[in-house]
Order: sequence, then C-alpha cells, then structure tokens
Amino acid sequence: MTQTENSYGYFDDDQREYVITEPKTPYPWINYLGDTDFFSLISNTSGGYSFYRDAKFRRLTRYRYNNVPVDTGGRYFYIKDGDTTWSPAWKPLKTELDQYECRHGMGYTRIRGEKNGVSSSVLFFVPKGENLEVQQMTLTNHSQEVKTLKLFSFVEWCLWNAEDDMTNFQRNFSTGQVEVQDSVIYHKTEYRERRNHFAFYSVNADISGFDTDRDVFLGDYNGFDTPDTVARGEANNSIAHGWSPIASHAIEVTLQPGESRDLIFTLGYVEMPDDDKWEAPQVINKTKALAAIERFNTSEKVQAAFDALNRYWDELLGRYVVDSDDARLNRGVNIWNQYQNMVTFNMSRSASFFESGIGRGMGFRDSNQDLIGFVHLVPERARERIIDIASTQFEDGSAYHQYQPLTKRGNAAIGGNFNDDPMWLIQSVTVYVKETGDFSILEEDVPFNNDPDNSAKLFDHLTRSFNHVVNNRGEHGLPLIGRADWNDCLNLNCFSSDPNESFQTTENQEGGRAESLMIAGQFVLFGKDYIELCRELGKADEARRAQDHVDAMVEAVKTHGWDGDWFLRAYDAAGNKLGTHEHDESKIFIESQGFCGMAGIGLEDGLVEKSLSAVNEHLACDYGIVLNAPAFTKYHIEYGEISTYPQGYKENGGIFCHNNPWIMIAETVVGNGDRAFDYYTRIAPAYQDDKVKLHKTEPYVYAQMIAGKEAATPGQAKNSWLTGTAAWNYVAITQSILGIKPHYQGLQVDPCIPKAWDSYRVTRVFRGVTYQIQINNPAHVCRGVASMTVNGDAVEGNIIPLQSEGSTVEVVVTLG
Ligand code: GLC
Ligand code: GLC
Repeated sequence: MTQTENSYGYFDDDQREYVITEPKTPYPWINYLGDTDFFSLISNTSGGYSFYRDAKFRRLTRYRYNNVPVDTGGRYFYIKDGDTTWSPAWKPLKTELDQYECRHGMGYTRIRGEKNGVSSSVLFFVPKGENLEVQQMTLTNHSQEVKTLKLFSFVEWCLWNAEDDMTNFQRNFSTGQVEVQDSVIYHKTEYRERRNHFAFYSVNADISGFDTDRDVFLGDYNGFDTPDTVARGEANNSIAHGWSPIASHAIEVTLQPGESRDLIFTLGYVEMPDDDKWEAPQVINKTKALAAIERFNTSEKVQAAFDALNRYWDELLGRYVVDSDDARLNRGVNIWNQYQNMVTFNMSRSASFFESGIGRGMGFRDSNQDLIGFVHLVPERARERIIDIASTQFEDGSAYHQYQPLTKRGNAAIGGNFNDDPMWLIQSVTVYVKETGDFSILEEDVPFNNDPDNSAKLFDHLTRSFNHVVNNRGEHGLPLIGRADWNDCLNLNCFSSDPNESFQTTENQEGGRAESLMIAGQFVLFGKDYIELCRELGKADEARRAQDHVDAMVEAVKTHGWDGDWFLRAYDAAGNKLGTHEHDESKIFIESQGFCGMAGIGLEDGLVEKSLSAVNEHLACDYGIVLNAPAFTKYHIEYGEISTYPQGYKENGGIFCHNNPWIMIAETVVGNGDRAFDYYTRIAPAYQDDKVKLHKTEPYVYAQMIAGKEAATPGQAKNSWLTGTAAWNYVAITQSILGIKPHYQGLQVDPCIPKAWDSYRVTRVFRGVTYQIQINNPAHVCRGVASMTVNGDAVEGNIIPLQSEGSTVEVVVTLG
C-alpha cells in the first residue's frame, strides 16, 4: 500500500480510495456516485444532492450553492445517545467525533464516525443499472454497556426544477406534496399534473415516527445543525403541505455490547406510465418503487450490488495500467485520472461544487474533448455521444455551442459561431475510430440541426467541419475566430462597455476581422488526422485537397503568425497583433504555442523548439504553466472578458490546467521527455501532496484553474472535477509520454520520457487484445524505438500489428 499523508488524508491505492481523516478539509472534497442515469454528488461530510439525468430539470434533493456555512444540505444522519447528539459524517451537528474517516472510492463513498463507543459507518453508492442511491449504515456498539439510540435520517426534497426551486417561492411554497406508507416517504410534488415521476426515501426497518415538514422537524428559525426533533428525541409525524417537504425517518436501535446492526436506506427515482400513475384517487401507484426497494432490503443484496460495482471498475481500469517505479504516476494514470475522465464525460460542465447544475448544457467543444479520455473505457457510449454532438451541427459545418442533455437539441439562446467548435469533431471521431476500428460510424446518417429530413453521413460532417475553417479565413489567410475559440474569454469581436451585456453571446463586430492562431494550429493538427482518415478510406483526392489547405495554413502561420520567438495569439478586430513582444501586457499566450507546437508547424525550422523555450521562460512556474503573461492589469475593451479577471486568475494569467498538456505534448513533438514529464508533475494531483492546504480543492482530481504566479494567492486551485484538463492530461501522459497510442493499423509505441527512466510496463487492452508492453531504456534516451519484439518475434517500426481477439500479447520495446 502506498500512502502519502498530509494533514487531511492519504491515498490508499490498493483500495483505489482517497481516505480523508479530518472532516474540516480546506474545501468540501466530493465524490460522484452513479454513472449512467442516476447521479449523486457527495462531500466528505455527506453534503450534496442527487438527480436523475439532468441536474437542472430532475433534481431530487435540494442543495444551496455558496451557502453559509459552506456545503449545507445533504443526506444527513443524526444520532441521539443519551444526552449526546452527533452526526456520523460530522455535519450537520458538528459534534466532535472520537473517530472520523471518509473513503472516496470508484463510484462509492464510505463515511465512518464514532462517538462514545458507538460507530456508524455508511456506505453510499448507486448500484449499476438502478435509479437509486443506497445508504447502508452499520451501527456498532463498541462499549461495555447496552446502547439505546435514536437515529434520524434527513433529506430535503427539491421540487424537481432546481432553478425554479430556488427562485419561484410564490408558487413553490404551495405545491409540495408527500405520502408516507410504512417506512417509505414519497415525494410527489406535481405528480398530479404533468409529471410522471416521483421520488422516495426508505429504510428496511420499522420506524418509530417520521417527519416530512422541514420547519416542524427543525423548529422555527433553526438550522440543520439544531433540529428540535433530534434534541427531543421524538419525531412529529408531520405531513408537509407545501413549504419545504423533507423525508426523515426516526428509528430506535438497541445494541448490546459488541453488537452490530445494518440499516439500509434507499433514495430513489421512479417514472410511471401515464395510465398507471395511481393506485387510488390521490394515492400514487407504488409497485415499481416497492420493487426497487426490495432489491436492496438485505445486506446480502447490497453486498452483491457493491461487488458488481467494484468488478465493473476493475474491468474498466484494467484497460490501461502502467507499472512504474513511481507510485504517484501509477496512481494518477491507473486510478484517479481515468475516474475523473468518466465523471467529466457524464457531467460535462453541469454539476460539481463549482458548477451549479442549472447553467450549461453539454458543450460541443467540451464534450468532444472529454471523449478523448473516455473512449477506451466505454466505446459504445462514446459512439452515441459523437452522434448526439454531430446532430447539432449545421450544413455549413458550424455548430451549436451547446445542447441540452435531456432533449439533445442545440441551445438557441447561446447559438454558435465559436469557430474552433467544428474541428473538435474531427478529433473525437478519429480518436474513436482508432480506438475501436469501428469505421461503420462514418457511414451513420446524422442530421443537421436535429432535422431528421436533412442529414448526411458522419464522414460528410467531418468534411464540413474541415471546410468551415477553409471557408472562414481572414485577411492573413488565418482562421476567423468568430465569437471566440477555445478561450471563451478572448472575445475579439465583442466590444462591450455595458456590464449587462454577455461576452459570450454579444458579437457586435459584424463580420469581424479577428483571426486565431489557436484555430490555425488546431486546423493543421486535426487536419492531418482528417487527411490520414481519408487515406485509410481510400479517398485519395479528398486527402490531396485537404493537404493543400493544410499546407497553405502552415505557410500562413509561418508568414503572419510568427512573432520572432513564439507564435502570435491572434489578430484583433482592427487587424492588430495580439500576443507579441511589441506589447507590454500579454506578450505571449499558451494556446497558440500548444496547438502550433502539437501540429509541428515550423518544426524543421526550429520554431516549435523556440516557442517552447519561450513558454518555459515566460509562462512556466512552480504550480504549472500560466495562460498568458504578463497578465492584463486593465480592461481592454477590444479583448473582452479575458481582461476582466484580476491578474493571475482564470483566463488572465491563471494556470488554466486544460491547456498545460498541449505544451507537454508539444514537448514530446520536439523529443523533450524531461520537460514534458516535468510539466506533467507540476499539475498532476498525485504530485501535490505538499501543497494540499494551499490548493484547497480535492487532492485526487484536477481543477480547472490554479492561480498563477501573478495572482495574489498563487497555487490556489478552483473549479475542481469538470474540466477538459482530465481528458487532455490523460492523453498527454498515456499516449505522448508513456507512448501507447491507438492507430488504425494497430497499437503504436512511441514513448517520450525522462532520460533517467530505466524501464516501465504498460498493460493495454485494445480491440479485445491484452498487450503487455515492457519498455526498457538502457541507453537513457527520451525517445526513439530501437527495437521491438511481439511474442518474441522482431517487428519493424513501432506499430504492434493487430492481434487476434481475446489473446494476450507480450511486447518488449527497447529505446535507443
Ligand atoms: C471553460 C469552458 C471551455 C473553454 C475554457 C476556456 O473550461 O468549459 O469551453 O474552452 O473554459 O475558456
Ligand atoms: C466564463 C469562464 C470560462 C467559461 C465561460 C463559458 O467566461 O471564464 O472559463 O468557458 O464562462 O461559460
């Protein structure tokens, strides 16, 4: 077991868990339960909420973001043991515990608290294929005396639409409805009219009482930390009529010395056919709910479901396993980075402790990028996602910037015109086909703008993506930026002096001249992928046509995009350069160095190496690589939102972790494995154990941003979990540094590692074959495959040819 302790916890790699030993972490440290339809967010003090599919429209339990104190609202337990009342997860009562431990694992969380000889350990998880959260509580009496405990559960219902729920009180305080039968509390607000769904909270034990009216349970003017009912030790059997419905069970438990008892709570969601909603007038049909509850009403059933969840993760995480001397590298690659990839794929940017779950839908660019770190895990879901995304594209290749997960329709309020968007589709599709060999996806008929009467083959969508850049070039032959490229805050066509205007949707420089070097690099990089795909498909003419455009773009970048020591960032709406040594502020930006570098533009002339030296000199710092430097100190109306952030934060000189791996990958393009890996360790969570307190956010996942060197609080992270950082870092480390890359013809091995490394092993399951790859580095080089054997036979080049499905293949690679 590898444990690196800080004052809040440690990694338990054997269990694939992060163990939190102090409830008062610098910020709530959360986990996600569920991976398909039913999801829960759970913090280390059991805060958070649950929803079905859509965090805005189907929110089961209420959560108040940015509340005081932080992280208020969750699935709470209260225990009354004589005169002492305590909560096993510390919150909400915050009684000091004799012991506390929270283990966040793959799709589950276990929180254990102990007080006065009684321990309560609660395992929270969403069983595979179920629309419910199981909470299995094990109560144990470690003392010498008989304990008679009063236990209260607590969840507060959200009236389904999370946004309406926190704003529309004139209506909502009158609509809330519940039913209670036996030990199950049902939440049925609006079920009478247009909703065909309700929620329930059950326990597999007799209850001594219940409450469903929050204010009765808490007592007037009380918080979750001072409920009258718990102090008194007796429930009120209240039925909510409007106001704020809750579900609270009261249970009496007597435990002999040494005795343990399991209680299983389930918090679930049920949809009913319209003609089968009722069992009697005003009484909901509970058959489906009761069947779900029954599936988890014994500890054996819960254990079986928990075992199945663990087997599921064993299998998923068995697909890429690195075995190196560096435990932190193994931990990041084998466990937490892949786990975060799954979460970002599921959530996009909707629900975290920084994303409120009511804002954005699925982003066109975000979801395409999330997919590149996910495709090896569940390719079938990646395939479905690609089709959904491509269905929001328009005939001219442009795309809706976002779509709603529930309807899968483009979001008209935001519209399109972010000119990097179309190119990401080429990346995700080529990555998918290389991973799976499933060329049939290219033949799928995919609608434009979700119009079933107007569709084209997916391959044709890619051609349109490519052409969209070709057809939207500016006066320097570089791509027009539109509203913005990847950097949403570089709004070169929005000149706004009105604080009520949006930078994202206002575009007042009609037919704007602004051009983007980031898109130029992106076009060359993914353009090459497009050309390679055309060749695979035998489309030689199209490959040639595309090559001409890519060549022309390379020339345009060399002629108009090179500043002498690095790549410019853009031309603004007045045709002026941005990201140039001629300016005092923001002389250099990361995105164009990353993309032009990954694309190898000017590699032969030393441009990439030069620009990467400039990155190292101007942008790199101990905490990662900042986005731009020096940061803007004043508002530049012609650059937009970027200059609204204080120096060192977010897109203005922050370490925007998403783009750091672009530099790592570019470093591998020039063969500098030492620097690539050095940059990797500067932001990879597993390497930050000495900075945990400063960082604040979870030590096991990437955050979107770490405050940069010019910030007032350098090194402080924000916006953890939902960020393209996860997928890109995973690709950088697994494919570009460790060097195992899917290819149309097989698995390519092309490491670019620190010279000092002697050897490492990678197990990779690829198209049904298990490859066990031993990489030896006797000459201590960064890059270069000197020889390779596959099952003992020498193979030319660095591509392991495809093997027969189901086999296990031994590969030995010697660098030199
Ligand atoms: C956010 C957005 C992403 C954008 C990035 C940079 O992470 O989700 O779409 O590219 O910020 O502005
Ligand atoms: C803000 C954020 C940026 C995000 C954008 C889209 O501008 O700074 O990161 O991509 O909003 O909502």
